[in-house]
Amino acid sequence: GQQDLILGIETSCDDTSVALVAQDGTIAACETFNQFEIHAGYGGVFPELASRAHVQAILPAVDKVMAAVDHDRSRIKAIGVTRGPGLIGSLLVGVNAGQALGFAWDKPVYGINHLRGHLRSPDLEEKRIEYPAVMLLVSGGHTLLAYLANQSDVTLLGTTRDDSAGESYDKVARMIGLGMPGGPAIDKLAKTGKSVFDFPRPMMHQGYEFSFSGLKSSVARLLEKEPDCAKEDIATSFVDACLDVLEKKLRRAVDEYQPKSLVVVGGVSASPQLRAQVDAICTETGVKSCLPPLKWATDNAAMIALAAWDYVAKDLEPDTVPTPSLAVSA
Ligand code: KG4
Ligand code: ZN
Repeated sequence: GQQDLILGIETSCDDTSVALVAQDGTIAACETFNQFEIHAGYGGVFPELASRAHVQAILPAVDKVMAAVDHDRSRIKAIGVTRGPGLIGSLLVGVNAGQALGFAWDKPVYGINHLRGHLRSPDLEEKRIEYPAVMLLVSGGHTLLAYLANQSDVTLLGTTRDDSAGESYDKVARMIGLGMPGGPAIDKLAKTGKSVFDFPRPMMHQGYEFSFSGLKSSVARLLEKEPDCAKEDIATSFVDACLDVLEKKLRRAVDEYQPKSLVVVGGVSASPQLRAQVDAICTETGVKSCLPPLKWATDNAAMIALAAWDYVAKDLEPDTVPTPSLAVSA
């Protein structure tokens, strides 16, 4: 027969995403509406406009994914919706839609931690992660390194003291006149420049904590002193500095914890430079490289649905689902 599906909903920031995902990570459908144009003039996500755009997009997105399965609700086992962390107005749109659909269709509704969604993203389309694993989550909202004894047992090793890695990409992108989202724009420009500026590598030699605000300020100071310097060289030098730090911490963790897999997730894991670096570490150390397929690196509902499957598989009732053990709770 046909596979059971979970309907996932993600509205924590500026993407309205709805997906239908089977327990083995097969994606039956996913519809994502991004809001790049809406926020383009603001240099960041404008929360009130984000909420309003989610309200407009959420039911059309549900309808589109349901059309992909001929509106057959009998295949839907449960609904999983991001309950945080994120923008409260944005989250509420998804949570309310999820609860309403659950009530109308008589399906259980699971509130899912957004970070847990990211950390399950490498198992989308095919199962990749072998435990124990070392995981680096690098997104716009978070930077954290963790040890995963298994799918649900997460030990935090370190996090950032100030900016996240993605935030530093976005801020540097803004400083050198690139649009949002900053990450992909920086990647592209970085491929054309030279690494001539010796930006700091904050906390590179200290444990598993991160700090990126000094790197950002250092780029700002250079631009004040030399406003006409080559922007592509700034991009290349910045990416080098940022990735040097990530690489050092990843190698340290692989060395100390001897994991089977190295999992790197979150929006910044879409960076080709970071992906190449992770693959190099893995080839060298014999650890399995577990990156999400490029399409599922940034925010999406497929990863949220897959994370919801973990609770359904354990037969947990929606209201008994424990707060995920990540330090950053919703
Ligand atoms: O995971 P995500 O979509 O949303 C959050 O949960 O924050 O991550 C968004 C972040 C942004 O800071 C964006 O600039 C960065 O991920 N990002 C990238 C790339 N694509 C997105 N950074 C570097 N290279 C990319 N290709
Ligand atoms: Zn995210």
